[in-house]
Amino acid sequence: MAEPRERTFIMIKPDGVQRGLVGEIIQRFEKKGFKLVALKQVWASEQLLQQHYADLASRPFFPGLVKYMSSGPVVPMVWEGLNAVKTGRVMLGATNPADSAPGTIRGDLCIHVGRNITHGSDSVESAKKEISLWFTDKEIVGWTPANDNWVYE
Ligand code: RTP
Ligand code: MG
Repeated sequence: MAEPRERTFIMIKPDGVQRGLVGEIIQRFEKKGFKLVALKQVWASEQLLQQHYADLASRPFFPGLVKYMSSGPVVPMVWEGLNAVKTGRVMLGATNPADSAPGTIRGDLCIHVGRNITHGSDSVESAKKEISLWFTDKEIVGWTPANDNWVYE
């Protein structure tokens, strides 16, 4: 393994869960070749979501964002692979689905910026913070997929 493999934090938001898109979103990351190392379903508290989106606390949409994110269960996940953070963001598409390219998760599956169905870490540093906010060390499962040599040269 020459290149380092990153971990990124991807979360299916309450609208993605309510709309029955959990399987579709997981499948896209699985099919790409990324490795699932953690996954659960939680109904997150407003406090946890305020921490998760702390960088956006001064934005006018922040109270609505926290309300939306705490309105039902979410599915937080950790995916691992080469360039997982950057590629994960590309797979999600632009924040506003009006600008998300067809073929991306947001471009294909949602319409409104306030209901954009998935979250993805925007840097390796924020991925580390988010993973430790949502998962304990014990919940992260290190393993080697049987197809590893067929995904990486
Ligand atoms: P996320 O963190 O959820 O992956 O989204 P992102 O990086 O693409 O965008 P970010 O700027 O971090 O915004 C976080 C989430 O806030 C909601 N939002 N609403 N009403 C608005 O103008 C607005 N702008 C952002 C979206 O749910 C966005 O994903
Ligand atoms: Mg963000």
